[in-house]
Amino acid sequence: MSRRTNAVKWSPDSWRDKPIVQVPEYPDAKALSEVEALLASFPPLVFAGEARNLKRALAQVAGGNAFLLQGGDCAESFAEHGANSIRDFFRLFLQMAVVLTYAAASPVVKVGRIAGQFAKPRSSPTEKRGGIELPAYRGDIINGTEFTPQARTPDPRRQLEAYRQSAATLNLLRAFATGGYANLANAHQWMLSFVKDSPQSKRYQELATHLTDALNFMRACGIDPEVHPEMRTTDFFTSHEALLLGYEQAFTRVDSTTGDWYCTSGHMLWVGDRTRQSNHAHIEFCRGIKNPLGLKTGPTQTSDELLKLIDILDPHNEAGRLTLVCRMGADKAAEHLPRLIRAVKREGRNVLWSCDPMHGNTITSVTGYKTRPFDQILKEVRTFFQVHAAEGTYAGGVHLEMTGQNVTECTGGARAISDEDLNDRYHTVCDPRLNAEQSLDLAFLVADLLKGQRQGKAKPAPVAAAL
Ligand code: PEP
Ligand code: CO
Repeated sequence: MSRRTNAVKWSPDSWRDKPIVQVPEYPDAKALSEVEALLASFPPLVFAGEARNLKRALAQVAGGNAFLLQGGDCAESFAEHGANSIRDFFRLFLQMAVVLTYAAASPVVKVGRIAGQFAKPRSSPTEKRGGIELPAYRGDIINGTEFTPQARTPDPRRQLEAYRQSAATLNLLRAFATGGYANLANAHQWMLSFVKDSPQSKRYQELATHLTDALNFMRACGIDPEVHPEMRTTDFFTSHEALLLGYEQAFTRVDSTTGDWYCTSGHMLWVGDRTRQSNHAHIEFCRGIKNPLGLKTGPTQTSDELLKLIDILDPHNEAGRLTLVCRMGADKAAEHLPRLIRAVKREGRNVLWSCDPMHGNTITSVTGYKTRPFDQILKEVRTFFQVHAAEGTYAGGVHLEMTGQNVTECTGGARAISDEDLNDRYHTVCDPRLNAEQSLDLAFLVADLLKGQRQGKAKPAPVAAAL
């Protein structure tokens, strides 16, 4: 079995000597380094101990004893930032988590694509409109969406605004998670008003009634939820793509309790499908931080490359360290997933398998919008569970682009959003998201698949502790 000790020295800036793709061209290098120095002096957004707690929770998922729900905007935006959208996202997330917990009868690890998900990889560095060519929009942390030379020029001061917004978002999320809002006794109230007359709503309200009955029963038996913090509060973690490495480096700090490096811009960071070249900067940066990591993997990835990346990112085969986020496309998953799963299993690697049914299913509608058909999203999730059942491995999580808002960005779902409807409320600055109804619908589908998995008792074969 191949083992790498990663003996090559790592430092928070060792990525700067490696080849890199998907980097913005900042016109003023001095202004950029001044911003990075300022960010490095700012307080961390998360603590190393929290990242370790998440890693422990993810180790439970990898062992088949919990499920990972990860989701949020494709890209957070400065313009859409506000308390209401954070609250609506959080309550939808709680609803989905309750649906999944109930079905799986095991904990759901909750990880938002939020409070830092600003930088975007693009298929082309420039965009042309009517004979004019400008830099592509790369996320609000880098440049603006408006098609003007001024907005599209990367501006380092945007990183300060992204930090401010991340801190404010995280502050509210922490309050929601621990201040009483997430109390299971409130499960009925999490329903969003515009979802209230849908079939998903009915199914959810029934479940919430079961929960209320169970809580009342426990209270009658003398178990008061008020004195059990796990009933009143929840653990909610943050994650984003580690793309803008200067920003990430500025938040990479030594944890005083362990002496290890943690990137404190979010609990979990992932490497995207376009930046996962094993000898490149993004992999170099991520290998040295101790946060739990995600790695996007798609149909273009060879099994050997994947094993090499696992060796680099998780040399000690540590449960919870690495989540493989599979984004195959509904029609390619059955072909590509088995070969990757078999390779990983053959090498005894202890990874968490999660399904991103969004990024392999993006198409352009006849009306010209970037969209995703809900049926294809469902199909990829189903295939993911089927393949894992056939391979005897554990389908551990889903990774979604979703919003608590009533948008029309993905077609299909219970309200059969058509190509023509996309124009009504198409608000994303990047990829199309599931709206609240579609997200809840998907949660019920995953719940059914989880029940099936539980009945089939698919748990990963134990992996030798030391390889
Ligand atoms: C994303 O998660 O928004 C993304 C760009 O995904 P991928 O790297 O899988 O294409
Ligand atoms: Co996306």
